[in-house]
Amino acid sequence: MNERNVLDDLRRDVAGLEETAIVEVALHGWDRAGIIPLWFGEGDKPTPAFIADAAIEALKRGETFYTDQRGIQPLRDSLVRYTKRTFGIDVSTDEVTLVTAGMSALYLAMDMLIEPGDEVVVVGPVWPNIYSTVHVHGGVVRDASIRLTDDGWTLDLDQVFAAVTDKTKAIFVNSPGNPTGWMMEAEEQARLMTFARERGVWVVADEVYHQLVFDRDVAPSFLQVARRDDRLLVVNSFSKSWRMTGWRLGWLTHPAALAPVIAKLVQITTSGVPQFLQRAAIAALEDGDPVIAEIKAECKRGRDLVFDRLEAWPRVRAARPKAAFYAFFAVDGVTDSTAFAKEIIDRANVGLAPGAAFGDAGEGYMRLCFAATEATLIEGLNRLEPILGSGTDQRHSA
Ligand SMILES: Cc1ncc(COP(=O)(O)O)c(C=O)c1O
Repeated sequence: MNERNVLDDLRRDVAGLEETAIVEVALHGWDRAGIIPLWFGEGDKPTPAFIADAAIEALKRGETFYTDQRGIQPLRDSLVRYTKRTFGIDVSTDEVTLVTAGMSALYLAMDMLIEPGDEVVVVGPVWPNIYSTVHVHGGVVRDASIRLTDDGWTLDLDQVFAAVTDKTKAIFVNSPGNPTGWMMEAEEQARLMTFARERGVWVVADEVYHQLVFDRDVAPSFLQVARRDDRLLVVNSFSKSWRMTGWRLGWLTHPAALAPVIAKLVQITTSGVPQFLQRAAIAALEDGDPVIAEIKAECKRGRDLVFDRLEAWPRVRAARPKAAFYAFFAVDGVTDSTAFAKEIIDRANVGLAPGAAFGDAGEGYMRLCFAATEATLIEGLNRLEPILGSGTDQRHSA
């Protein structure tokens, strides 16, 4: 009988995967009665009925077979039309692939690009799964963080360029960003794309929040500054703009030459998205603009409601974001955001995500998702006020 622990048999990068601090905090408060959960990146309303109906009808029609690995033709036609309508960009159906949500698109991107030891320059603070996806492929993260200044969150592009070495395979940018709501402007994207082109480095652009923008119609996309043959992968998702987090639907925009490679990778992982879900995706793309408009308006209201309160609290430092649906704020006196998030659960029964989960640059910050309904946000803020709403909180030990 072999006494070795089964975990010792795992690939080192897999065994070394860490639980994110968001999950650690959520496990602390998950089963508390009456908790107000503002820790995850989703709203509290279900998917609109017309989208669900499209899936139900397809199921009843018997659309239950294997399909094209990269999505059925009508779905990819819809993605092409959506890209044109949204960003004014012509792509072909060879350049878009439907995948099992944005997360799967990120995983596929790193699967294609990263060999052990390759470096990825990541503009942080950013969603922890990005770091984990690089690590599980044996990649090394080099951080180039945005900073909170009097002008809001700002990126020093020269810092990004300086982080690129001979080992750099890709630069990762999430704009609009989770957790900060920072948005990269078109001129910055153009400079970065030019730099990447000259250096032969890939740009992986996570644009899953492109519709949730409050000062213009849509966020600038790397697609708008790229050439067709550029080393660019754009990650997208149905989760945020159409209330479809649980459906696990997303898409990748990529050079046409990668289409057969992606098809093979999809084949040996998910083998494609169920066809009835693809019908729902088509319904969202073709008829979902009013849903997007509604979510956008709700998020803007949520943002203003939350920031009107946060900005009046002396312990809190924050910048009202132009995009996405998060408040990412520094709390005076907090040096261990994970412990503080647990303390907030114990004292206020509100679930917030700790800033430490988003990389070193996030320590000392907390993230609150303001995509929730107004009554929930008001109650959550009322409960937080005794802790965050006065000067230094005497009870907090950190
Ligand atoms: C920055 C970012 N990228 C990608 C995703 C993945 O979204 P999904 O896998 O639900 O499409 C998320 C979800 O929170 C996110 O915040």
